[in-house]
Amino acid sequence: MTDTMDRKPNLVISTGAGMSAESGIRTFRDAGGMWEEYPVMQVASADGFRADPALVHRFYNARRRDLFKAQPNEGHRILASLEDRFNVEVITQNVDDLHERAGSHNVLHLHGELTKVRAMDDPSLLFTLTEDNPDTDPHTVIDGHKVRPHIVFFQEDVPNFALATEIVEQADIFVIIGTSLSVYPAAALVRYVRPGVPVYYIDPNPAAVPAGIHVIRAGASEGLRKLAGILGVNA
Ligand code: OAD
Repeated sequence: MTDTMDRKPNLVISTGAGMSAESGIRTFRDAGGMWEEYPVMQVASADGFRADPALVHRFYNARRRDLFKAQPNEGHRILASLEDRFNVEVITQNVDDLHERAGSHNVLHLHGELTKVRAMDDPSLLFTLTEDNPDTDPHTVIDGHKVRPHIVFFQEDVPNFALATEIVEQADIFVIIGTSLSVYPAAALVRYVRPGVPVYYIDPNPAAVPAGIHVIRAGASEGLRKLAGILGVNA
């Protein structure tokens, strides 16, 4: 049994590509973003994968190689350190593993994970790729299975969304970081926050948000230092 006096507040964080920008991972929709260079529906949709699976494998191989060279940034580390004072739940649209590598323990990936591939004939069978063996193609067979990137393509369901909404419903504080809020259902998570719960949005170029959300116009690291101050934590 736990005493309610001992319970740490639930701090729920929703992150997007801007969270990893300071680690050198490109965002998607900023100037110079990924979708300026690559046609999104060719490399990141179910139709695109059916039409040219080799292209899609190559695209994610390149992203995976970039990720293996990247390191978590100060923002990722501040988020991990907030676990001393809060029950921190990270819900991320990012497919990188930088939250985990910075030490966050509870990370839910909405759009999949770049370091993993899954069996084409059994979506529950995941395989982890390493820096020594980072590439796959349509002919790659692991343990007898052809594989595909463990990525949620456009036109596919987001299997972890229901769980994410349950986590958001439990939030005592909700924070959105580095997302243009243009991809659904992820962008709708804020609607599941209980009335009266404070909501913060850290982004140097924030999207339009409903009144009542506290916008911190800053990059992830600077914004998280400010937020830690607001929450009374030394970061
Ligand atoms: P976007 O590229 O749409 O938005 C990135 C956001 O990060 C923008 O609002 C930027 O202002 C902000 N940003 C830039 N630099 C930042 C920094 N240093 N610190 C904090 N924020 C910064 O990326 P997402 O909203 O994450 O999905 O995109 C959502 C989804 O669209 C992705 O998960 C991906 C993409 O298509 C799939 O491919 C399935």
